[in-house]
Amino acid sequence: NSIAQRHGKLWVGTAADIPGTAETTDAAYLKVLQKNFGEMTPANAMKFMYTEPEQNVFNFTDGDEFLEVAEKYNARVRCHNLVWVSQLSDFVTSTNWTAEALTLVMKNHIFKTVQHFGRRCYSWDVVNEALNSDGSFSSSVWYDTIGEDYFYLAYKYAQEALAEIGAHDVKLYYNDYGIENPGTKATAVLGLVSELHKREIRIDGVGLESHFIVGETPSLADQLSTKKAYIKANLDVVITELDIRFAETPYYTATVQQQQAADYYTSVTSCIQAGPRCVGIVVWDFDDAYSWVPGTFAGQGGADLFNSTLQAKPAYYAVAEAL
Ligand code: XIL
Repeated sequence: NSIAQRHGKLWVGTAADIPGTAETTDAAYLKVLQKNFGEMTPANAMKFMYTEPEQNVFNFTDGDEFLEVAEKYNARVRCHNLVWVSQLSDFVTSTNWTAEALTLVMKNHIFKTVQHFGRRCYSWDVVNEALNSDGSFSSSVWYDTIGEDYFYLAYKYAQEALAEIGAHDVKLYYNDYGIENPGTKATAVLGLVSELHKREIRIDGVGLESHFIVGETPSLADQLSTKKAYIKANLDVVITELDIRFAETPYYTATVQQQQAADYYTSVTSCIQAGPRCVGIVVWDFDDAYSWVPGTFAGQGGADLFNSTLQAKPAYYAVAEAL
């Protein structure tokens, strides 16, 4: 993050699964975090199932604790997320809602959550991962019950909730994967953004998750042109969940580590070449010990800048060089 500062306002951050996990009390981990990152994204603490476990019963304890740690480290926080298909509470998924009733649930969740955390959030991922790879809306309780209006309403409610507390500067983002390179899905995002603009609803930025595979990372030209297209649509761009996993073991041979370093370099370079509206780069965990990858992609791993004993890998130095 301190190297990135020479580009003006560019910041570098990381996801962290705090509180309630081994990370929370791991002094060596926290030291590396504090030293290297100027932003933190809660990997879980602010998700629906934790913030509203039962209808209209809110629990912001984890989110508040996360913010306390981030504020102690002078790290801004991308608050994550409000409306998503995953990690929802049972009351949402197990009720047979009318569109009107579920819209009120969504509105209440957005208002209470956004207003509780207020200006302590740099930004909110308002809707997370709404699209299939062909650009259509994916099936979720939100889409299946409310239809595509749920998407536009989510931003409208977030905007209204912030306006009510005078927190107009908290930015509203759409966050997804598979939208880092040109294609149907990226085009669909641009379509949603222009529909929001048409309805005079605010959206400030797009989060490009960038969960990549070593050797299969989109090219610099593709990553750059996609970022430029979002910027042209008047959006800020953040790389929000960068990690580049190995699809094979062993993860740590010199050759694959060099390829991984080159792939990290490409992503970071695309942000810098896109110019000042690529405002941030966030890795989704910075060390392999706490990475979500092996738990989600069987047999894969080694995706982060530091290995599982907190040694910096070639990828770490490649990022520094790209910055
Ligand atoms: C992941 C977390 O890292 C895990 O701890 C959790 O079990 C599942 O979710 N896209 C997102 C993130 O937007 O919220 C996901 O985080 C990773 C994929």
